[in-house]
Amino acid sequence: MKKPVIAVALAAICAGFVLQAQVKERPVPRLVQGDGRYALLVDGAPYLMLGVQSNNSSDWPALLPKVWAAVEYLHANTLETPIYWEQFEPKPGQFDYSEVDTVLAQARAHHVRLVLLWFGTWKNGSQHYMPEWMKLDPERYSHVTNKNSEFVDSPSPFATASLDADVRAFTAFMSHLKVADPDRTVIMVQVENETGTWGTLRDYSTEAQKLFEAPIPPEVMKAMNKTPSTPAPNWREAFGDEADVNFHAWAIAKYVEKIAEAGKAVYPLPLYVNAALRDPLKPGAPGSYESGGPTDNVIPIWKAEAPAIDIEAPDIYLLDSPSYLKVVELYHRPDNALFVPETSGSGNAARYLFSVLGHQGIGYSPFGLDYTRTHMPQKGEPETPDGFLESTARNYRLIAPMMREIARLNFQGKLQAVAEEEGKLTQTLHFGEWDAVVSYGVGRGSSPKGNAEPVGRALIAQLKNNEFLVTGMQARVDFRPAGTEQQRKSQQIVNGTGQTPSALIDGKWQHRQFLRVEEGAYENGAFKPIRILNGDQTDWGLDFSMDPEVLRVTLATY
Ligand code: DGJ
Repeated sequence: MKKPVIAVALAAICAGFVLQAQVKERPVPRLVQGDGRYALLVDGAPYLMLGVQSNNSSDWPALLPKVWAAVEYLHANTLETPIYWEQFEPKPGQFDYSEVDTVLAQARAHHVRLVLLWFGTWKNGSQHYMPEWMKLDPERYSHVTNKNSEFVDSPSPFATASLDADVRAFTAFMSHLKVADPDRTVIMVQVENETGTWGTLRDYSTEAQKLFEAPIPPEVMKAMNKTPSTPAPNWREAFGDEADVNFHAWAIAKYVEKIAEAGKAVYPLPLYVNAALRDPLKPGAPGSYESGGPTDNVIPIWKAEAPAIDIEAPDIYLLDSPSYLKVVELYHRPDNALFVPETSGSGNAARYLFSVLGHQGIGYSPFGLDYTRTHMPQKGEPETPDGFLESTARNYRLIAPMMREIARLNFQGKLQAVAEEEGKLTQTLHFGEWDAVVSYGVGRGSSPKGNAEPVGRALIAQLKNNEFLVTGMQARVDFRPAGTEQQRKSQQIVNGTGQTPSALIDGKWQHRQFLRVEEGAYENGAFKPIRILNGDQTDWGLDFSMDPEVLRVTLATY
């Protein structure tokens, strides 16, 4: 019974609810799930966030011109920018909406959407964005207490005065957005920033200690798939060395839930939290990473305790592909849409946008790509500001004109995308009767050697059985008949030597034939062919340089 309903909903969503954007009140953005995949609906249709996050102190009127100039250069469709609690509530209960209104008005003028980041109780594990009147009263708005009974530079999730104040301020902020943003310029809100604590695993205050020694709430046991070995175990008994981290995650998730729930009750925008990661391949012991935030090991606790949060999202600053891909896998879960709210976007790291798309990412947003940078370029970083932005700008120039199409195809499960991995010369993607083979560092008639630096990327979407949308950078894409899995095991492949990719299927050679390869550009969401590629441009496969190029390819066999 369930499937047809989902299928109908999916078709309706994809068929063109964009129309709704033209009626007076635009629908509130929302996250939807269908057939195990997610989409962020903006104006009623799947939206791919090609984002950029400004530097932490850039959301001030004097600085914003340097942000918008970068957004424009990048062709980003979404700006992620902070809202500072210290600015928003300079005196208790007195709210200053000027910053929110300024960024809203300017975003509209630039035709850019916003993700607003609520820098509230937590910012990178500390309470640095609490208003001064809170900072000056640490006994009331208390910090985490370490094992030596000292306050550390982190807010306590047991500080009810802080929680009440954050609930009140966040509710005021969301209520204001509801009224001030009928255009739905704001499409998501991040609640807090990299919650958790550095330097101690949890709060050791008397109150916290009492709860730590009490029986674990049953929903935590269930979420973590734990069967109690003793009746009503406490945290240490159930989790051993992981007890403190799990306890801190539980306490913070509950605190954040209260804020998210109150904000959502007044204005139900999609909400997410971001994580400072632990090492995805060799996770160290508790203490080697920020404790209590939504790291991969405690996502189930966050899901159980903070249902008003739609997404647990990774901030990925890792640069090697095994680590990057592992994070993407860990956060792309049946119960969690993949969204990367912070990442490195310069140099070859920009290729990972394609890995995120390949895991049905709903959005991606490199951090700090604006013209307000104050630090000196580090070793290996481009010297000029535009050099710093260029890699992401290339991605967005290519994808922005077709972002609705990409978001729709991804939601429908028709799209695959990959980035070059160090030492991997080819990647094969399966599309029913066809395999798409992506190869890197390949010339005419030579076999792939990989690019000098791993910069390659490719995206392929199946439009019909024999028709594909293909794009990429520094990569060759070709297709070969796939046959069944059984046949694939025994088939012979001829590839990359100037001969046509072929497969021996059921004792008969099947050769790939390009019926038509159109190069074109997306205008107002529709593909407009500009020429048919043939001859040298297709005889060796479909080669992509760093320039934006989009192809529609129709295949046949002979
Ligand atoms: C992660 C944080 O979430 C950002 O606000 C920023 O501090 C970056 N780290 C590093 O610059």
